[in-house]
Amino acid sequence: MNFQRHRRLRSSESMRALVRETHVRTDDLIYPIFFVEGERIKQEVPSMPGVYHVSLDYLEEEMQELVDLNIRSVMVFGVPDHKDDAGSSAYDHNGIVQKAIKKIKSGFPQLTVIADTCLCQYTDHGHCGIIRDGEVLNDESLSALANTAVSQAKAGADIIAPSNMMDGFVAAIREGLDEAGFINVPIMSYSVKYSSAYYGPFREAAHSSPQFGDRKSYQMDPANRLEALREAESDIEEGADFLMVKPALAYLDVLRELKDRYPLPLVAYNVSGEYSMIKAAAQNGWIDEESIVMETLTGMKRAGADLIITYHAKDVSRWLNR
Ligand code: PBG
Ligand code: ZN
Repeated sequence: MNFQRHRRLRSSESMRALVRETHVRTDDLIYPIFFVEGERIKQEVPSMPGVYHVSLDYLEEEMQELVDLNIRSVMVFGVPDHKDDAGSSAYDHNGIVQKAIKKIKSGFPQLTVIADTCLCQYTDHGHCGIIRDGEVLNDESLSALANTAVSQAKAGADIIAPSNMMDGFVAAIREGLDEAGFINVPIMSYSVKYSSAYYGPFREAAHSSPQFGDRKSYQMDPANRLEALREAESDIEEGADFLMVKPALAYLDVLRELKDRYPLPLVAYNVSGEYSMIKAAAQNGWIDEESIVMETLTGMKRAGADLIITYHAKDVSRWLNR
């Protein structure tokens, strides 16, 4: 009889480790964190067990926990006290994100701080750009985004991660950063960002739901694959240093396709709804959390992601360090 003995390479854990093709490492993980104004606040987001709103007086202990776990990159989100139609606290030098970045970089210079650059947490209407007559204006939004990126870089951000999905946002931000002297600050573009129901828990966490309409005129239609290639290509032309696919789980094919085509570091955003689904099922005892999380993140890496932004990062590094 002539057939293949595939099981030879599965015979023991050490044999399997020898032939394992994909690995999740703590260095691949970026931990997202939400900062709020005020004092003595560490409040769990109801739809995201284990994820908190943290005030700046708790920043140091939060960062120390990450450093102790060997996590080296954080993605910083701000939940401001003040919202207006222009999103002005997004580019306020004394804004919540700017203060958080300064504080992280002064206490923990070894951490790579990534700033999410968008307006939706800061606008009273909750959209990611400037509004006129109920419409999200493209070009009019670009200067606010560039100003936001520059103020984040001035505060010490190591990487700018624009998530707003206006056309030309990478070019506008690159130009703004260069003119302000930040030629060496890279842009991690949310290149391929779908209009997704998986962002629901984040919008509760960040108080950033649109107050009217939806984001479908700027975020992508989940049905589209070729459009993802056009988005990625234009971001590369405009000077993006990293590409991102968001959400991750329902878009693994898009990750694979981008990785095969473009020689840039590729990031998967394992978004809030993906996290909450696993947490909810695990809390009910319906699934084994550690195995499910590791299998899920391994799948994202196997699909082509080099890096993963994930709310599971602390748990994962605890499991990996064990
Ligand atoms: C802001 C932004 C969002 C997320 C990251 N940056 C929300 C949105 O676009 O509605 C989602 C992250 C998550 O769901 O974990 N534009
Ligand atoms: Zn936004």
